[in-house]
Amino acid sequence: MNGILVTGAAGFIGSNFVRQWLATETDGIVSLDALTYSGNLANLEPVCRSERHRFVHGDVCDAALVESLLRTHRPRAIVHFAAESHVDRSILGPEEFIRTNIGGTFALLQATLRHWNSLDSAARARFRFVHVSTDEVYGSLETDDPPFTEAAPYRPNSPYAASKAASDHLARAWHATYGLPVVTTNCSNNYGPFQFPEKLIPLVIARATAGEPLPIYGDGGNIRDWLYVEDHCDALRRVLERGEPGSTYNIGGDAERTNLEVVERICALLDELRPEEHPYRRLLSFVPDRPGHDRRYAIDATRIRKKLGWRPRHDFDAGLRRTVSWYLDHPAWVADVTSGAYREWIAEQYRHPA
Ligand code: NAD
Ligand code: TYD
Repeated sequence: MNGILVTGAAGFIGSNFVRQWLATETDGIVSLDALTYSGNLANLEPVCRSERHRFVHGDVCDAALVESLLRTHRPRAIVHFAAESHVDRSILGPEEFIRTNIGGTFALLQATLRHWNSLDSAARARFRFVHVSTDEVYGSLETDDPPFTEAAPYRPNSPYAASKAASDHLARAWHATYGLPVVTTNCSNNYGPFQFPEKLIPLVIARATAGEPLPIYGDGGNIRDWLYVEDHCDALRRVLERGEPGSTYNIGGDAERTNLEVVERICALLDELRPEEHPYRRLLSFVPDRPGHDRRYAIDATRIRKKLGWRPRHDFDAGLRRTVSWYLDHPAWVADVTSGAYREWIAEQYRHPA
């Protein structure tokens, strides 16, 4: 096979990417995922019978496994999503973030370099390693600051952001030093179907429909720039086909909202779509702030818009409506992923009274 290798394919963005890829592209995918708490094979169920898709259960830090996958499948590209991805978990337990996000990226870059060096010159020229990263590496903006461009300095504030920043530096160095054709993307907050309900939007939908308090950290005035997950996947496909090796691309939705605005909008959608328990606003609950909580993220996506012709197709209100509807239509998925371990996490994270 000469398709692509996708790491972290059973997670939120990875699984959306795999489904979109198989629906729009012709070549196949080998998916590698360790199936941690946030990786769920049910996310890949819609493609599990596709002859162009193969799932491998394994750890990206396992160099021997990754090398054998590369030798066997000889992919023309790698899209690297695998990571620990939740800021709050990184605060309570940073070790796994260092292991997977830094150690895993290092192991993958090393194995990829050996694979790339074994290719003929045409295949080497065509090969790409897309390193999927976050805007959180840039740190926090003040209200009046311009959005992050690709030239913004790295100022990570959480263990998660620091581990992703370190992985970005490794990716950059493997291009500069060894010539590996790496392209890095730094994207803003994603939302949409199949997001594990520990992140703000799915957490609020799940808790509201269960009649539980909706935890707002601090004053609720922190700002995120929201992007519908399918638009991110679309951007990544363009970066894979046309991105310039050694470059970085910021990806964002041009949809800055305070957390309070987001939660209130979800409540309004639930009032309309599931009116039995309205008004959902009554569940709003202000809780102690996250330590080191970044105040604002905002992305300047001019480079990818101009150079690759990408732009988001979903505006925030339409994307949020689709997302809320998806969660309401998939109670079995939510019940499945919110198992005993999930309940232990919620009890630990939200144990302080409002
Ligand atoms: P996620 O937590 O939903 O998925 C991560 C996936 O990686 C899971 O399937 C998990 O099982 C897998 N994984 C974890 N450790 C692994 C390991 N050692 N080996 C193999 N697989 C492993 O996260 P997500 O939101 O889908 O994020 C995917 C990527 O996108 C991450 O690199 C993240 O930093 C980046 N990103 C996320 C966002 C966002 O808003 N969610 C925004 C920008 C960038
Ligand atoms: P999150 O979804 O964890 O993404 P990130 O921290 O990577 O931006 O959080 C989004 C915002 O919502 C962030 O400012 C923290 C806030 N938040 C809450 O107010 N309450 C919550 O229960 C969670 C999980 C997040």
